[in-house]
Amino acid sequence: VSPAGAARPATILTVALNLALDVTYFVERVEWHAGNRVARVHEQAGGKGVNVARVLQALGHEPVVTGLAGGTSGDAARADLAAAGLREALLPIAAATRRTVAVVDETHGDATGFWEPGPTVDAHEWADFVAAFPALVRDRAAVVLTGSLPGGVPLDAYAQLGSAAARLGVPVVLDADGEALRHGLGARPAVVKPNAGELARAAPGLDAPAAAAWLRAAGAGAVVASRGPDGLLAVTPDGSWRVRLAERVDGNPTGAGDAAVAALAAGIVAGWSWPERLRHAVALSAAAVHSPVAGAFAADAYRRYLPAVSIERLDGVHGLLS
Ligand SMILES: Nc1ncnc2c1ncn2[C@@H]1O[C@H](COP(=O)(O)OP(=O)(O)OP(=O)(O)O)[C@@H](O)[C@H]1O
Ligand SMILES: [Mg+2]
Repeated sequence: VSPAGAARPATILTVALNLALDVTYFVERVEWHAGNRVARVHEQAGGKGVNVARVLQALGHEPVVTGLAGGTSGDAARADLAAAGLREALLPIAAATRRTVAVVDETHGDATGFWEPGPTVDAHEWADFVAAFPALVRDRAAVVLTGSLPGGVPLDAYAQLGSAAARLGVPVVLDADGEALRHGLGARPAVVKPNAGELARAAPGLDAPAAAAWLRAAGAGAVVASRGPDGLLAVTPDGSWRVRLAERVDGNPTGAGDAAVAALAAGIVAGWSWPERLRHAVALSAAAVHSPVAGAFAADAYRRYLPAVSIERLDGVHGLLS
């Protein structure tokens, strides 16, 4: 029982503007250009904001997922979040939430994906979401802005949401690409987490350390660049580090970046030092490669990797452009 008037527990809000319903068809052997009998269908809520929330939940946090959901696919995604025990505050939109369909050929053990284009959000719906956002983000310990923007949502969406969070003193972790990332920097997010391609697109012609330093100069409090099996390169107010696992992990790297983002948000909430946040981010994301589905990780591998992470301090990157 919490004392009267106590603040809400420190929760992390994740934002899934382009929520998905991930549909997987399991087919014994796919015959292209012919009819196929589907043996089993699996459906679950997806998208990066949901993946990050699932990882946070598995770490013992009680995240809340917000964003936009519409149509029967949106209803199904909502129902799946409820079934998974994930709290949501999704705002309804008229257009249907996108489905991502994966067809798994169980004989070959491979999959073919079909990504629907996603809904077009009406200007009034976006205005309603922006108006509702301060109440959703108030008193949270952190907010994660991640994933693509659906049609109709302005390119500076993450700047609008990030500015609202900043006004309320809530730290932002931003994981975005292209224009959404570039605009999002304007709201001075605490952390941005580009992967190698996103970093190169954001700062063309610069090597990774210089590009990370450039993103900081453009507004990011800290830049944590992920580099697949090579781990993380972090440029922060407290220094710069190269952090990695000695071994390369075989498995499914989809969603490893989302696990890194979850660890960085959790590290903010826990008040860990930068090296400690980065150690957890590398161990957790490597453990996520073990898991065939995005949003999950192998807990035993996470524990095993933590002491095996190498943390190398870099000199000279921090002040590169200052
Ligand atoms: N094969 C691997 N072995 C060990 N660690 C890995 C491997 N692939 C990824 N990782 C870990 O996961 C982190 C994130 O990976 P990556 O840079 O591929 O992210 P991403 O492209 O943003 O992924 P996504 O957006 O699909 O979640 C890396 O920084 C690293 O710590
Ligand atoms: Mg990513």
